[in-house]
Amino acid sequence: MDTKVIKINRDRPEDRLLEEAAQILRQGGLVAFPTETVYGLGANGLKEEAARKIYAAKGRPSDNPLILHISRGEEIEPLVTGVPETARRLMDAFWPGPLTMIFPKSGIVPYGTTGGLETVAVRMPSDKIANRLIALAGVPVAAPSANTSGRPSPTAAEHVMQDMDGKIEMILDGGPVGIGVESTIVDVTGPVPVLLRPGAVTMEMLRDAVGRVEIDPAITGPVAADVKPKAPGMKYRHYAPKASLILVEERAEAAGKVTPAVVCEINRLARQGASEGRRVGILCTDETKDRYSCGVVRSAGTREREETIAHSLFAVLREFDDLDVDVIYSESFARDHLGQAIMNRLTKAAGYQVIYAGEKGEERYAGE
Ligand code: TXA
Ligand code: MG
Repeated sequence: MDTKVIKINRDRPEDRLLEEAAQILRQGGLVAFPTETVYGLGANGLKEEAARKIYAAKGRPSDNPLILHISRGEEIEPLVTGVPETARRLMDAFWPGPLTMIFPKSGIVPYGTTGGLETVAVRMPSDKIANRLIALAGVPVAAPSANTSGRPSPTAAEHVMQDMDGKIEMILDGGPVGIGVESTIVDVTGPVPVLLRPGAVTMEMLRDAVGRVEIDPAITGPVAADVKPKAPGMKYRHYAPKASLILVEERAEAAGKVTPAVVCEINRLARQGASEGRRVGILCTDETKDRYSCGVVRSAGTREREETIAHSLFAVLREFDDLDVDVIYSESFARDHLGQAIMNRLTKAAGYQVIYAGEKGEERYAGE
């Protein structure tokens, strides 16, 4: 299949171009499009057959459910059996925007979209291209991140090209996305909302809006083989670069800070890797990038503004892939505010491998 790539104006998306994409969606085809978080791979969310094509293009296990994207608040009504009061408050506070909520599904949502679950994930993106495309399609758009399953999510149209060229009908190129990590997911089916995946709508913001919010344990640590995580996607090794990624971190109160001991340990590991003939990558920040003396050094952004790190994280991981790096040593970040989302993606990409600075070479599980 020839994949058509169309450039779209992010601020004033051209309806004439979007109409062609909307028609592909209505007819059951696949269109990748930008959202404010990452690029999505869209299909008609009410057609099981269309959802099947998404799983095939991504190579994604079919028990991993898809998010339904809507363009206006009222479009949620036919998709769910009810909207609880806390969900209303979260919608008022954060929609349109990078927040997905889990509801009991209605009869019109096919099990092919929800991975067989009785619940459905719904999100209303704020990105103008995404929002207008969904409105023109006239159906809820099922869209996972537009990457091959297991690779870092795409934050630019070029990343989508790398993974999806020849597999889907169209890619809408709206330039690089703003946020860079996927939406926050909150389960609102129980009495207390539960955070299933951290994102740009942070835990602190959720608690400000609705008070009590719990955290699913799959966010902070590895999921045991016999435990079924609430967001099925959390059990897979995700966001994974080809190289093995290892986090280097301080313990306890200094965790997340880059101390001289962290820089020193990363330099030591990098030199050791290089001497063993491995190509080493170092994932760091603007504040420290000049302190590394060996390997391919990439800064994801500045610690002063963590949104710069969220924005570039996946692009940097993809760049290490392109450079055929064998092992990546990464600095760590504080696990609050946006740092919670950044560390969630990094620890999962690392398969929870952490080396604590000062404990030469000893590997432990994060959260131990
Ligand atoms: O920012 C985003 O959310 C992007 C853009 C394209 O909107 N989409 C995205 O989709 O990240 P995806 O499929 O890569 O991740 C969706 C996550 C998966 O971990 C999946 O398991 C979880 O949402 N999920 C979907 N439906 C669910 C449900 N009914 N119950 C629990 N988890 C669900
Ligand atoms: Mg994904």
